[in-house]
Amino acid sequence: EKELVILGIETSCDDTGAALVRGGREILANVVQSQVAVHQRFGGVVPEVASRKHIENIGPVVEECMKKSGLNYQDVDVIAVTNRPGLIGALLVGVSFAKGLAYALDKPLLAINHLEGHIYANFLEHEGIEFPLVCLIVSGGHTSLVYMRTHGDMEVMGQTRDDAAGEAFDKIARFLNLGYPGGPAIEKAAQQGSEGVYHLPRAYLGKDEFEFSFSGLKTATMNLWTKLKKSGQELNVNHLAAEFQAAVVEVLVEKTVAAARSRGVRTVLLAGGVAANRLLRERLSNRCQETSLNLFYPPIALCTDNAAMIASCAAYRLELDKPAALTLNAYPGL
Ligand code: KG4
Ligand code: ZN
Repeated sequence: EKELVILGIETSCDDTGAALVRGGREILANVVQSQVAVHQRFGGVVPEVASRKHIENIGPVVEECMKKSGLNYQDVDVIAVTNRPGLIGALLVGVSFAKGLAYALDKPLLAINHLEGHIYANFLEHEGIEFPLVCLIVSGGHTSLVYMRTHGDMEVMGQTRDDAAGEAFDKIARFLNLGYPGGPAIEKAAQQGSEGVYHLPRAYLGKDEFEFSFSGLKTATMNLWTKLKKSGQELNVNHLAAEFQAAVVEVLVEKTVAAARSRGVRTVLLAGGVAANRLLRERLSNRCQETSLNLFYPPIALCTDNAAMIASCAAYRLELDKPAALTLNAYPGL
């Protein structure tokens, strides 16, 4: 049996991605063109600028991906594209391009959910992931605990009520002038500081509550910093970054472990851009070890947005979904 070659296309936020994946797990090429340099001076992603950059970049990114793989367009069996959730103008670029390509090559087109795609960064990397499982998806736009019975059968256990975890990192980094994107910037500063020097709250909400809230922590961080500044005390941004990171990580870890135990699963997955955070990986690993849970997380390069995870997700979706029609649309929400 020939293993299908899937071309994935991803343009939901500020990364233009194209990837070729064979048999759901073998990455033949994975190209990501980041727009960080463009959005940096605004301190965050500007949606219209992102759309315009995608429309410039998508053609060359797909071409480069084909070239790197050594395959021809005729070797592509299926085209998969992220059509939800995300910035609508950004999504539309990928969807339009994918439709044109599917039409021109006469190949089936599959529409993929970006968050489900993030989960598949794990299936790309690891063999033998056992269901049922609980996955923590932490990105710039989302913070969700998902219970997964098997491929395609998912239930959202809880989400954030306000800011996503990555969004909180980005906002605090901007407030502290640490740079953009905020996650890696805070992580770097935190390595030079210590948690516990300053004290920030952990928002657990109710017990057995799988929702999150990070806006209170964000406000507490800003208020503390402003108060210290006014009082003329010596300020240490690295200590504050370390305490902030520890506060976010602690809540993510404890809620994930509690969610896994409440469902009686043995497997835990970590996914999304914030999954690149080393403290989160380390602390969740430790807690999972203590509680006899099998933890999987993607390699750092596959945590943030990429099209390989979209193509891999499509390999499983292919058995569940009908191909999309050329009327396929994009949707900003879930
Ligand atoms: O998954 P992703 O690339 O895009 C979305 O789907 O949102 O995630 C981007 C988010 C940003 O908020 C970024 O600050 C965060 O992931 N991030 C990190 C780290 N690397 C990226 N947060 C914490 N630590 C990191 N090392
Ligand atoms: Zn993402």
